[in-house]
Amino acid sequence: MCDQWVEQPVKTRSIRSFVVRRARMNESHRSAIRDHGDTYIIGADELCRAPLDAFPDTCGPRGGGRLLLEIGFGMGHATATLAGTWSRDAIVGVEVYPPGVGRLIAELRERNLCNVRIIRADAVDVLEAWNQETPVDGTHVFFPDPWPKKRHHKRRLVQVSFLQSVYERSRAGSYLYLVTDWADYAYHMRDVVTESGLFTVEDPDEEGFSRPRDWRPTTAFEMKGLAKGHRVRELFLRRQ
Ligand SMILES: C[S@@+](CC[C@H](N)C(=O)[O-])C[C@H]1O[C@@H](n2cnc3c(N)ncnc32)[C@H](O)[C@@H]1O
Repeated sequence: MCDQWVEQPVKTRSIRSFVVRRARMNESHRSAIRDHGDTYIIGADELCRAPLDAFPDTCGPRGGGRLLLEIGFGMGHATATLAGTWSRDAIVGVEVYPPGVGRLIAELRERNLCNVRIIRADAVDVLEAWNQETPVDGTHVFFPDPWPKKRHHKRRLVQVSFLQSVYERSRAGSYLYLVTDWADYAYHMRDVVTESGLFTVEDPDEEGFSRPRDWRPTTAFEMKGLAKGHRVRELFLRRQ
């Protein structure tokens, strides 16, 4: 598994929330996918049909832990950090960018973590196909692509339809954690959350955003935003 896998396009819809970037894989990404892809990368059909079967029984709901979803994990720093901290939880990472998949697998191997499985697919399709009998306990969307130009706003991942999909695939009382460093996208997120009526904002400040959870790792994209002086806004949402 590797060269053919990287060349394979992700099947997708006409309006997508990501750019199909040419994959620049280094040797460590390549060898991680070639040597360990069969363990960590799961086909969307297979994983969505029976999410828990993809994990060892020692983690996730079968092992007394939670089932978490991380959408658009980028290079996977936050995913690996949380997998290490929450070793009883099972984490499904969804990403379309092959070098990120390779980097995350390399880190999981290095740290001997077996509680993450990766799907390379459009998260919108993953949510649609997800087995509703295996609800998710928490979903992370850390720094989704901001699509700052007005004519691109329709490509933003967080819309009422996306919230509806997460709601339908999640357990009552579960959480959805949205974070962005683009002010305009943050206000858009806050407004669609209100419009949907499906989630409540926990611990809101005067603007209606949540105070940061102390367990959230800093991500690679976040560091770039902070270096440019961007302010990070967070919505930690509880599903009704
Ligand atoms: C701006 S980056 C942030 C990455 C990471 N979360 C971070 O904070 O460093 C957004 C990532 O989401 C991925 N992405 C965007 N839309 C997606 C979708 N519909 N399904 C899966 N991944 C998606 C992109 O490929 C990109 O790697």
